[in-house]
Amino acid sequence: MTDPQIVLTERVQQALARAFGSEHAAADPLIRPSQFADFQANVAMSLAKRLRRAPREVAEAIRAELADFPGEVEVSGPGFLNITLGDSWIESEARQMLADPRLGVAPITPAQTVVIDYSAPNAAKEMHVGHLRTTIVGDSLARLHEHLGNTVIRQNHLGDWGTPFGMLIEHLLDIGEETAVAQLEAGMGTEFYQAARAKFDGDEAFKLRARVRVTTLQSGDPATMRLWHVFMDATLRYFNKVYRLLGVTLTDDDIAGESMYNTMLEKTCEDLETSGAAVISEGALCVFPPGFTGSDDKPLPLIIRKSDGGYGYASTDMAAIRYRVHDLKADRILYVVGSEQALHFKMVFAAAKMAGWLPDTVSAEHVQIGMMLGKDGRRFKTRSGESVKLMDLLQEAIDRAAAAISDRGYDEGTQKEIAHAVGMGAVKYADLSVSHNSEYVLDFDRMLAFTGNTAPYLQYAQARIRSIFRRGGVDPATATAPIVLGQPAERALALQLLGFGSVLEQTTEASEPHRLCAFIYATATAFTDFFEQCPVLKEGVDPETRASRLALCALTLRVLETGLDLLGVPVPERM
Ligand code: ARG
Repeated sequence: MTDPQIVLTERVQQALARAFGSEHAAADPLIRPSQFADFQANVAMSLAKRLRRAPREVAEAIRAELADFPGEVEVSGPGFLNITLGDSWIESEARQMLADPRLGVAPITPAQTVVIDYSAPNAAKEMHVGHLRTTIVGDSLARLHEHLGNTVIRQNHLGDWGTPFGMLIEHLLDIGEETAVAQLEAGMGTEFYQAARAKFDGDEAFKLRARVRVTTLQSGDPATMRLWHVFMDATLRYFNKVYRLLGVTLTDDDIAGESMYNTMLEKTCEDLETSGAAVISEGALCVFPPGFTGSDDKPLPLIIRKSDGGYGYASTDMAAIRYRVHDLKADRILYVVGSEQALHFKMVFAAAKMAGWLPDTVSAEHVQIGMMLGKDGRRFKTRSGESVKLMDLLQEAIDRAAAAISDRGYDEGTQKEIAHAVGMGAVKYADLSVSHNSEYVLDFDRMLAFTGNTAPYLQYAQARIRSIFRRGGVDPATATAPIVLGQPAERALALQLLGFGSVLEQTTEASEPHRLCAFIYATATAFTDFFEQCPVLKEGVDPETRASRLALCALTLRVLETGLDLLGVPVPERM
């Protein structure tokens, strides 16, 4: 681990143990970046209180134990430790990082099995912008866990079952399979749903047919199942178009929709009932997890089977959590789903605990996704109040990106490639760079800006490094010379880069991609400063400095590329 903050934490802890006894070996030395040195440790203050000694004296005692520290330690003010790392330490750490194909990021041991439930659009309606963020955040988490060596099992919990399918199948028969398939493949799922719904509400004969169809579907009637497949396959072809455009890693193998659990539901209910976790209440089978009450102070039920015998969203999620723990052998389950479903998941987790299906060794977490808002601060909609089609939104981002780079003189193919990378990168990065549970305003102008904390700025930073190598006729893979820190901007950049490994760990542990975003942005900014102050290829730069700076460029490039890739943001060759 090369992260200076972590290295320092360990060193100071060792010093604490030597100076004051081993019971202090695990104390948090409270190390923070500082404007007076690289870091400041504030532990002397709190420790002094407990030891009833003067803080400065305690600080001096710690400093004395840091005599072999590769840098400078000063005591200042009431007892702060100001710590400045030695250049040679930074240089050698940066060099090791450059030589390591994993950039100093050690795989997690023991590796965990992480089930990630994300995207999960509903097939009965069109995939809409609400599913965009769950898809993008979930995909980044999947990439991060895989990169750290965990086994990731993606689960796309599609809404592909339930009563609406009766009317959808009847409508499919009415308009003919061919027309229906064409519509669904083209992403007209919402229109399809609305047409079916209108008939259901206004046409008694249709309503009756739809009801009968639900029963034949539930019973697994082959002819009806075939029609369901026709509907689902066409819908999936559309979802896949969106995934491919976005560069999301989900494939058909990751589909584990609600329909998959259908055959398990009866047994789920039975087991919950015999174990006593669920009871019949007003005809419905319910779990009452402790601590959940409604507005009337009555215990709140999680309904596992409705009084008419039907199953719902909670039934499926109970079957799913058991399957994920028991069959998939998850150590950790992440549900990347809208924050409006917080209560549902709290209750599902609590109910699963009651049933003994979620042992303490497995952690189930709801990664709450905040709502996407329009510029007016309301739920994002089209002007006529319809929900916005995901495909339209993505296409608009690409078109705007194309317009933004239209004057750069690229040939048509390159222009298209860059517009795609910038457009999709912008949409994804905007989603990832704010904390996932906060609401977020979709603003094309802001996300496509070439300055500030945006994808285009970061993509441009890495493209600029590539262009340095192109102009210098150097392959970045061969830029492995010793890194020598001369200028402050070089030092600041190198120090920044050393934090990469621990930011990946923290991001992954906390399921918070915005931390990685902040790190990549800080890296790009440090590079910009470096690039302005430290000429690389300019005539007059001595060969050793040039080689060192190229090595620093190469390390920055790999950190930016790897970081952006873990966010799922494409990295164009040139821009
Ligand atoms: N299809 C659901 C929706 O659109 C999300 C499913 C999330 N996953 C789950 N296991 N419930 O709201």
